[in-house]
This record gives sequence, C-alpha cells and structure tokens, in this order.
Amino acid sequence: MPASLPAQLAALTTGADYWTTNPLPEIGLRALRLADGPHGLRVQDDENPDHLGIGRSEKATCFPPAVTLASSWDPALVQEVGSALGREARSKGVDMVLGPGMNIKRSPLCGRNFEYLSEDPFFTGTMAAAMIRGIQSEGVAACVKHFAVNNQETDRLRVSADVAPRALREIYLRGFEIAVRDANPWGVMASYNRINGVFASENAWLLTSVLRDEWGYDGVVVSDWGAVHDPVAALKAGLDLRMPGRLEDPRIGKAAAAEEIDRELERTAIRLKLLADRTSRDAADPGDVDLDAHHRLTRRAAAESAVLLKNEQATLPLEPGAMKRLAVIGELARSPRYQGAGSSAVNPVRVVSALDALKERSGRSPRFEPGYRLDGIHDENLVTAAVAAAAAAETVVLFLGLPPEFESEGRDRKDISLPANQVAVLERLAAVNGRIVVVLSNGSVVTTAGWRDNAVSIVEFWLTGQAHGDSVADVLFGDVNPSGKLAETIPVRLEDTPSFLDFPGEGGHVLYGEGIFVGYRYFDARNMPVDYPFGHGLSYTTFEYSDLTVSGREADSPIAIIVSVRVKNTGVCAGAEVVQVYVGGIQESPSTPVRELKAFRKVHLEPGESAMLTFELSREELGHYSTAMDEWIYDGGPSTVYLGASSRDLRLSAPVDVPAHRVARPLTVWSTFGEWQNDPEAHARLARLIENRGGIRGRMADLLEDETGRASVLSFPLRALVEFPGFPVELDDVELLVSGSDHPKT
Ligand code: BGC
Repeated sequence: MPASLPAQLAALTTGADYWTTNPLPEIGLRALRLADGPHGLRVQDDENPDHLGIGRSEKATCFPPAVTLASSWDPALVQEVGSALGREARSKGVDMVLGPGMNIKRSPLCGRNFEYLSEDPFFTGTMAAAMIRGIQSEGVAACVKHFAVNNQETDRLRVSADVAPRALREIYLRGFEIAVRDANPWGVMASYNRINGVFASENAWLLTSVLRDEWGYDGVVVSDWGAVHDPVAALKAGLDLRMPGRLEDPRIGKAAAAEEIDRELERTAIRLKLLADRTSRDAADPGDVDLDAHHRLTRRAAAESAVLLKNEQATLPLEPGAMKRLAVIGELARSPRYQGAGSSAVNPVRVVSALDALKERSGRSPRFEPGYRLDGIHDENLVTAAVAAAAAAETVVLFLGLPPEFESEGRDRKDISLPANQVAVLERLAAVNGRIVVVLSNGSVVTTAGWRDNAVSIVEFWLTGQAHGDSVADVLFGDVNPSGKLAETIPVRLEDTPSFLDFPGEGGHVLYGEGIFVGYRYFDARNMPVDYPFGHGLSYTTFEYSDLTVSGREADSPIAIIVSVRVKNTGVCAGAEVVQVYVGGIQESPSTPVRELKAFRKVHLEPGESAMLTFELSREELGHYSTAMDEWIYDGGPSTVYLGASSRDLRLSAPVDVPAHRVARPLTVWSTFGEWQNDPEAHARLARLIENRGGIRGRMADLLEDETGRASVLSFPLRALVEFPGFPVELDDVELLVSGSDHPKT
C-alpha cells in the first residue's frame, strides 16, 4: 500500500456529499451515486440535497410502494417493477437504489409501514428477493433496509429495540437472511436504532457475526443517513460507508494515522471496488427508459395488487353501462393518495386521478361530489350534496382513505381508524343508497369493523403509485380481476394488536414483549377475531382446491415435505389465485405458532381451467431458532400441512410425519432431571451412577412414587437436586457427566 494511501482510504468510509461516494483513482475506484428509494427514484439537485424528501427531485415513475406490491403475492411482478426501477436508476447514473425496505410490520401504527412488505418474515424475504433481483438485473445495486429491527418511527434515531433471541432470528432477521441467501443484495443499510442496547451501525454481532460470518454476505454495508455516532467503532463493527459525507470529521483520519484501522480501511476499499465492478456500465449507454411503458406497468401492478375485501351481491365488477347511473363521491377521487411521505417520496412523471380515468373511459365526467374535506373538518354542505347525488344514483363509488399527513417517515400513527368525517359521510350515504362500493387508499391498515356493513363492496388499493385512477377503474370495471391478498392482518381494534402494550416504548427502550407472536401468529395463537385475516382477498371468480397429497422426505434430504394440490377456476371469468401453504403442529417447543406460512404461488387460470401445483418445503424453512442452543433446529416428526386461500380460509389439510435425525440438545448442570431422562445416552450414564450409589432414597424416593411428586422432581434442574438429601449425586458428578465422561466411581 503506498504511504499516502491510508488517508485516501479513510475518505472512502464516508460520502463525498449527500448522495455520492469518494473516488480513488489510484486503485481504479470511481465515485458511486446512491439514491432513494424503494418505489421510484428520488434523484435530487446536488445544490439542495436532503434525505427527508423535502426538496423536490427529478421526475421519475412513481411505482406502487411496498405495501401494495406485497399484496400482489407475485414475485415475478415485483421483479418486473424492480427492473423498471433499475433501468430508471441506470439512466440517471445511479449505482445504488436505497431499497427495498423490508422491516417487519410489528405494529399497524408504524409510520413507514407503506414502505414495508409484511408481518411475515418468510413472505417479506421472498418478495424482497424478487425486488432485488429485478433492480440488480439492470446492473444497479439494491440496498435492503433498515437492518435491523427498525419497526417504528417514534424515537427511531436512538430507541433500543429490546428483543429476545428467538424473535430476533425468526421474525426480525429472517427476511433479511432469506433476501441475502436468495438474491444477494449488493448493499445493506444499517438502521438508526439500537438493538438490545447497541446501535445497529456499530453492532459487530449484527454486521459481522450474523451478516457476514453466518450468512456469507459480501456486499457493502451503508449507514442510514446520520446513523453513525462513533465512526471508528462502526468501521470496526463491519460498517463500510457512513452517509451522508462528513469528510471534515477527523476521527477516522486520526485512527488511520495511528494505524489502528488498516485492515478495516482495506476491507472497505475492496468492497467498494466490488460494488463499482458490479454496477459498472458502458458510459455511452445510459439505458433505455420508456416512461409510458413504466406508467403502464405501474397501472397493471397496482391493479393486480388490489385486495377485494368484500363483494356482496357480486356488485363488482360494474357493468360498462353503469357509469351513467354512478355517483363518484370523495375528495380522494380527484386528489388521489398514491404514495407516502418522507425519503421515499417521488416526483411523479404524471398522476392519474380516478375522475380523470373514469372520464377517459366513458368520454364523459361521472357525477362527482367531494363529500368531505381532507383536513378532517366536517362540512355539512359537502355531505348534503353527496347525499343528494347518492340518492339519485344506482351505485355509489365512495373513495375513502388516509390523508397524506397520517402516514410519513418520522412519525407513527395514533390509531387505525379512518378520519371520522369520512366515516360520517358513508353513514349518511348508506341511508339513501344500498349499493355503496368503497375504494380505499391508505399505506397502513385501517380497520373496517365500524363501517363495513354500510358498504356492499370494499376494495383495498393501498397506495397505487402514479397510475392511481387507471388501476382503480380497471378493477372496478373488471378489466382486471382483483387477485391481491393481504400481506398483513387487518385487526378489529388497535387494542387487539400484539404490540399494543409495548409500542412505542418509553425511556429509550421498546420491549418486544410479544416475542415471535407478531401478526397472524398472535391472532391465531389467541384464537381472536380479526377484521380480515392475513392472506385474505376475494376474486370475481371462484377457485376449488382438491387432490392434496403430502409426503415427508428421507432424513438426509434438504427438502422435508413435498406438497401437491390441484386448483381449479370454477367461476365464469379468468382470474388468479394465490395458493398458500401453512404448516402447523411442529413439536418444537410449547410456544411454537399454530401455523406459519411456508410457501405460496400465484396461478392464473381461465374459467374451467385447473393446475396441479407442487411445493417443496425445505428443512431450513421449517426450523425454529433454539435460544438454548443458539442455532436453528428442525427435528422432523409429525406436523400438519394446510392449503389455504387465506390464513383462516384453509381449504385442505393433511398430517405428515417427517423423518429426521433428532438434533441433540446439549445437557448442562442446569438441565432438569426430566431433560436428562429424555436423552437416552445421558440418562443411561446418570441412572448407572445412581444405581451404583444405592439408588434414590428417603423423601425423594417417595416423591418419585406418586404422579404429582414425580412431575415435580423431574422439573428440578440437577444443579438443584444435588442439594437434597437422598439424591446420591454431587455437583462434581454432574459436571463430569456433562463433560461426557462416565463417573470414575460408577
Ligand atoms: C431514511 C432512509 C433513506 C435515507 C436517505 C433516511 O432518513 O431512513 O430510508 O434511504 O434517509 O434518504
């Protein structure tokens, strides 16, 4: 290394400014450009940069955000959007797109839930991997964020997410692990928050032991903007790039001069070089971007992600001629909400409102009344006019949703209700018209429990991206048969949700007291009613499930269970079904969830058409994280496979007994007498020792004779049993047995 190089290498550890890295021509490294975000590019004017989405950025396609794409349950579609995003990035000279966002939706209140995918880690990892593959197929790096356990906005820059090991592994890290394994993102963004007391960006356990050593990650770790407080500690923990640029900060320079961080600097340079190679492009080829094609893709993606929550009397789809007798009500029909606020906010190429789209479709404007104000203030004149329009109409399409200020990076919501002035309009309209179709626009869940009965149909469009009105019209008039499914539970009440008592924490800590029981895992464990369950979504057609076969594979196969099932479109129009495979009843520990999603597939079928689907469930995916052993284990054995159209609409099920080599649980002096007895080999040695010492005597022997007493003795750790008279074993003996040796005196 040339003598001056350490100083130059030091400069690589932070950006040159808000959005670019420092070049180092001596090692052939160019400057790299980074940009938000997950559902459209936010390339800012370098004169007025910010990371909060306040400054206006260059125009770009605003694709549907993560909440919407997730509801498609269609990795191929998500990948297609990813590659369109990658193409736009490439055309603007962007090397790394800061997304996808993939934190688990622990609470429906999180202000950035619209940027995240799901409450389920397997689903999150699978969909994020599709997005990464799409972006990276264009030679642009994806950067998964926010690693990790960044599940709220309140206090996000300093809060410590206090999570037990099993929940950390199974719920909060698992999605990232799957994404790294399946799609190898070239970037990972370390989050702002602390995890069990240690800042994510300075967390050697997270960034090195888990991410690199266990998962084999070879890309660059970037900090969230302003997340590094001790740059030397962060570098040592495994962070590569601290953003935005703070070149004037002397701390890294000093450590470099003292030769304290030579290895880390070299490592960062190598990783940035790898990133530059991976994203290297022909300067003469900025990439072809067809913005019209991207608008059409946005339109299709949002329509295919729409979730038909309810459709009584087959009110939807509307007849082509229905337009004449339609009343369109709701300010959101002319002022659409199609994205959330904050660093992901895109300056869209164009925006289509529902009124625009409906007019284009029929050549005439539908009868429209705004009905309510978006600022929440009740306006009786607006309501009266809307009621008159509804009374004269055959069908009412009512646009409801969350006004923009309800959902933003930087703050969490307070409740999961629609604004009261909107619900009031629905109630008044329902008094004069029995055919009300509600179109919802919101980035995080709203409960429908209080008003659902006033609508015959409800379609959850989430935030659609820029083609809003086109996507909505396509679904309402049946050009697209809705096939979206919920990627998160809609609860009846906020008070029912698993993190209710522990969100957003206090005193700098938030305790993840619900453990692994997040989302449907919680509602199912407690057998609680929900508004709409995880995986729910209706269609204009119907599907029938049959011919389920389930078989366990031999113990040495990485695949544990093979499932096959036939699905048939039994209705009159073409449509797509998302077949969901859940597994329950695995005998791991008393707190294993009732059932968990382990596979899914979306299948398009013409009327009368059927398809045979096969799923291979891997042993890895069926495993649970053992806190005691600090590793993933899967013992096989009996479990039940469920095939469902939602997590609560389980159509078929079958038991399966999976052959496996039982994973040995290491015994310690603190293992109970019962646990020793469950290990045949250890128990034999212990029993021999006890027998050689004349057996268990006195009160202890009496207790073992009756059922209750025996259960009590078996629950005692050996470390405690040795303190009792009549138990002929000393602590030294147990320690010797633990170390694997037979006792000398046996
Ligand atoms: C956000 C990130 C974003 C970054 C850059 C941060 O405040 O948390 O998601 O990528 O800013 O804009």
